[in-house]
Amino acid sequence: MNATQEQLKSKVQQALVTAFGTEFAETDPILVPASNPKFGDYQANLSLSLSKKMGKQPRAIAIEIVDKLDVSDICETPEIAGAGFINLRLKTDYIEAQLNAIQADARLGVAKVKHPQREIVDFSSPNIAKEMHVGHLRSTIIGDSIARILEFIGHDVLRLNHVGDWGTQFGMLITYLREVSPDALTTANALEIGDLVEFYKQAKKRFDEDEKFKETARREVVRLQSGAEDTLHGWKLLCEQSRKEFQEIYDLLDVKICERGESFYNPLLGDVVKDLDKSGLLEESDRAKVVFLDGFTNKEGQPLPLIIQKSDGGYNYATTDLAAIRYRTQQDKAKRIMYLTDAGQSGHFAGVFQVAHRAVWIPDDVEVVHVSFGMVLGEDGKRLRSRSGDTVKLRDLLDEAIVRSRADLDTRLQESEREETEEFKANVARIVGISAVKYADLSQNRMTDYKFSFDRMLSLKGNTAPYMLYSYARTQSIAREGNIDFEKLGDVKIQLQEDSELTLAKHLLQLDEVINEVEKELLPHRLCEYLYQLSDKFNKFYENCPVLKSEESIKISRLSLCYLTARTLKLGLNLLGIQTLERM
Ligand code: ARG
Repeated sequence: MNATQEQLKSKVQQALVTAFGTEFAETDPILVPASNPKFGDYQANLSLSLSKKMGKQPRAIAIEIVDKLDVSDICETPEIAGAGFINLRLKTDYIEAQLNAIQADARLGVAKVKHPQREIVDFSSPNIAKEMHVGHLRSTIIGDSIARILEFIGHDVLRLNHVGDWGTQFGMLITYLREVSPDALTTANALEIGDLVEFYKQAKKRFDEDEKFKETARREVVRLQSGAEDTLHGWKLLCEQSRKEFQEIYDLLDVKICERGESFYNPLLGDVVKDLDKSGLLEESDRAKVVFLDGFTNKEGQPLPLIIQKSDGGYNYATTDLAAIRYRTQQDKAKRIMYLTDAGQSGHFAGVFQVAHRAVWIPDDVEVVHVSFGMVLGEDGKRLRSRSGDTVKLRDLLDEAIVRSRADLDTRLQESEREETEEFKANVARIVGISAVKYADLSQNRMTDYKFSFDRMLSLKGNTAPYMLYSYARTQSIAREGNIDFEKLGDVKIQLQEDSELTLAKHLLQLDEVINEVEKELLPHRLCEYLYQLSDKFNKFYENCPVLKSEESIKISRLSLCYLTARTLKLGLNLLGIQTLERM
C-alpha cells in the first residue's frame, strides 16, 4: 500500500466513524485499486461487507459514508457505483505534485524501511566437484534479485553461499586424487584437475566397481574428519578448483556472494546432537539418531524421522542446516533467513524448521522461509537436458545466450545498415544475452516450472529483457535526438494533459508499492510485471504525445516524464540484476 492509498484508507475510515460511530473504528475500508480504470483509481468496498451487520442496503451505507468523506485534496468527487462501491479518482494536480516530489528524490519515492534488520539470503549453493546446474542458476538469479531489493530498502543483508563442500563424497574424490596424482596431496603447488565433473564421474566409477577403493574411500572420510593434513590438502585443492569455476559464473552474472559452505558448520555438529538429546527430542532408530517429525508420515502411516546422526557416526545435510540455523540466529543475529532451492527440498526444510522450532532454536522474532521454485523445463516440457541428453552445463547455456543475442544484433544492424564497433557489439550481445536468461527466470512466478526457450527470451516483443532494455534505450535516444541532457533538466513542473500521460504518471508513482510487496512476498516477478507495464505505458505515451515537437513548457514536461521513466526502468532492472544500455 502506498502513501496515497494509506491516506485514502484513513479518510474513509474517519468518514465511516463520523457516519456510524466509533464502534467502526477498526473496520477495514477494503480500499483496493479500481478493478477497471473506467471507475477511477481506487475503490472502497466496505459498504458491501457492512450491509449484513448493519441491516442496511450497501448503497445507503455508501451514500452516508460519502456524505462525510472529504478527499478533495486528493480526489475528484467520489462516486457510488453498482451495488455500493465507492469509486475514487485521483486529481490530476495531485498526481502532478506527487511526480514533482519523486523527481527530486534519488530513490524515486521508495522509502527505506523504518526498522532495518539483518536478513540472510542463502542462495546459489552448488556442490563441490559437481556441475552447477540450472536449479542452481535459478537459485542464483532469484536469490541475487531478492538480496538486491532487500539491500535497496535498507536491510542489512548477508548473502550466503551454502556450498556443499563436506561429506562422504570427498572420501571417494580424495582416494581417486591419490591414485591419479599422488604428489598432489603433499606438494604445495596447486594442481590443474581439469574438468572436475569428469573427475567426479571417474572417481564414482572406481568407487562403484572396486571394493578395495570403496574401503579406502571410507577411511579417507575419517581422515578428513579428524583433520589429517594430506587429506585436508586434497580437499582444499578440490574446493579451490570448483570455486574458480563457480566464480566465473558469478562474474558473468554479476552476482556477489559470500562463501560459507557446509564445512564451516562441521565443528558445531556434535553440539547439535548433544543439545537435541538434552531437550529429549533425540531418539534411536535403526542405530541412527533421529528426531521423529510431527505431522509427517510415510506411505505406511509411520512417523517420519529426520536423521541427525547416521549409524556410522556420520552427519547429514539436515544436521548441518540445524547447526547453520543456530549460528545464523545466535551469531549473525538474523531476523529473517531465506533459503532458495527448488521445491523438491520443501520436505527437507519443513523437517529442519520443525526440529529447530521444537528445540527452541528459532526465537519468536525470527522468520525462516523456504523460498522455493519450480523446475526448469526444455521446450518439450521435460526437465531441461542438453542435446546429448546430459544435464546442461551452465557455462554453455550462458555462452549460447550471448552467441544468439549477437546473431540477432548482427541481423538488426545489417537490416538497418548500421555500423558499430566490435567492442559495442560484444558488449550489447553480452548484456542482452545474460539479461535475457535472468529476466526469463525472474518474470515467471517462481513457484511454477518454467520452459526455457532462447527464442522467446531473446525476442524484442513481449515480457522479455530485450523489450525492456529497448524501452530504456528509447528514452535515451529521445534525449540524444533532442540534444538534451536529462540530468540537467532540473525540477520541472510536470503537466499532465493526455490520458496516456496520466496513465504513465500514475504507474510511475506505484514503484514503492511494488517493491514493498516484493519485500514481503519474495516474488520478483511482480517487479517484472510492473516494469513490463511501465514500458508498455511509456511506449503508448510516446506514440500519442509528441515530445520534442511540442511547445517549450509541454516539451520539458514530457521530457521529464521520459527521464522519470528511464530512471525507474534503470532502477527496477538493476534490482533484478540487469544492466541497462544507452544504445543497443
Ligand atoms: N547444496 C544444496 C544443493 O545443491 C543446496 C543448499 C541450500 N541451502 C541450504 N542451507 N540447505 O541442493
